Amino acid sequence: MHIASVGVSKFCFLLSVALCCLLLLLIPALKPPARQVDPPQPRPRVGPRPSGRSRPAGVSASPSKLSGGSEDEGEVIRTELPKNRNDSPKTGLGPQHAGPLSRSRPPDELELKDIFIAVKTTRKYHKSRLELLVHTWVSRAKEQTFIFTDGEDKDLQQRTGVNLINTNCSAAHTRQALCCKMSVEYDKFIESQKKWFCHVDDDNYVILPSLLRLLSSYHHSQDIYLGRPSLDHTIEAAERVKSDGSVSVKFWFATGGAGFCISRGLALKMSPWASLGNFISTAEKIRLPDDCTIGYIIEALLEVRLTHTHLFHSHLENLQKLPVDTALDQVTLSYGGFENRRNVVSIGGFSLSEDPTRFMSVHCLVYPETEWCPKPKAGDRN
Ligand SMILES: *[C@@H]1O[C@H](CO)[C@@H](O)[C@H](O)[C@H]1NC(C)=O
Repeated sequence: MHIASVGVSKFCFLLSVALCCLLLLLIPALKPPARQVDPPQPRPRVGPRPSGRSRPAGVSASPSKLSGGSEDEGEVIRTELPKNRNDSPKTGLGPQHAGPLSRSRPPDELELKDIFIAVKTTRKYHKSRLELLVHTWVSRAKEQTFIFTDGEDKDLQQRTGVNLINTNCSAAHTRQALCCKMSVEYDKFIESQKKWFCHVDDDNYVILPSLLRLLSSYHHSQDIYLGRPSLDHTIEAAERVKSDGSVSVKFWFATGGAGFCISRGLALKMSPWASLGNFISTAEKIRLPDDCTIGYIIEALLEVRLTHTHLFHSHLENLQKLPVDTALDQVTLSYGGFENRRNVVSIGGFSLSEDPTRFMSVHCLVYPETEWCPKPKAGDRN
């Protein structure tokens, strides 16, 4: 029994050793098929991977997207840095600048509805000046144009559907009355949530496509103050807001008669000196008109520079000198007052008696499809 059991255990030992050897021998034999099975799996995986990598050639497009994004951030950051903030708007004077910049940021394309256009007028000019604007450019931007006046005109409002705002300010052409209107304009703009504030007078024609093109070259979160200085030098005023008036400040301002625009980012920063009646007290402190006060708040208090542009025009210029072939590239046009009826842009179209301001002729060049514009003759079509 004992010997037999030893023999059995010996046999079992040998058998298990033999089985182990067999298994060891089988492993390499089993491995190859395992390898053969494995590689096809990695291979298809390797296949998709490069294609997955080349899809991120969609990724190779995303580095450029990323750099595009960082450009955007760069712009936003630039608005925080005084030096660049002042430099970057200065480079973007002409409409030719709109091209490259707007191409680098296609997602932020500006639309006309993003612009708040304030037209300053007075009750006695509703017929002689406002009707012409409503008949022409305002009809193309009714939703975002707001007419700030000093008297009711239910007839004009109902007949044309324009946004007429009675500021309840005095109709006198005094500094206080003008600043009162600007103050209401500012508050209405802030309330509107729109991206840009543009102010024009009731003798301005706004070439809307040019305005859109100009503003598209900036971002509304930047600090942008765009307009035309009426003087070729800075204005000097006693500093009575930050100090007691013993020191003076020099600053540029955009003339209100040519129109000017302010980005929302900058407008919000003006709030302590411009909102809810503060504009009137700021203007009273420095004793300057409305457009000067805007320049004072922006240049002297906020230290943001006016971006000088020659695309805005007031009746104080010689408008006949404006080259005809560039007239439609301008952002605003104007016309001489009753004392100088000849100060108009020399643009063809309606006769001078039909269209003394040339605004109807300009309008027909910008929007030839307008129903009251002369229909092009069959021969004129190219
Ligand atoms: C002007 O006064 C009228 C009547 O009191 C009022 O309804 C209106 O809101 C005022 N306008 C502004 C801009 O405050």
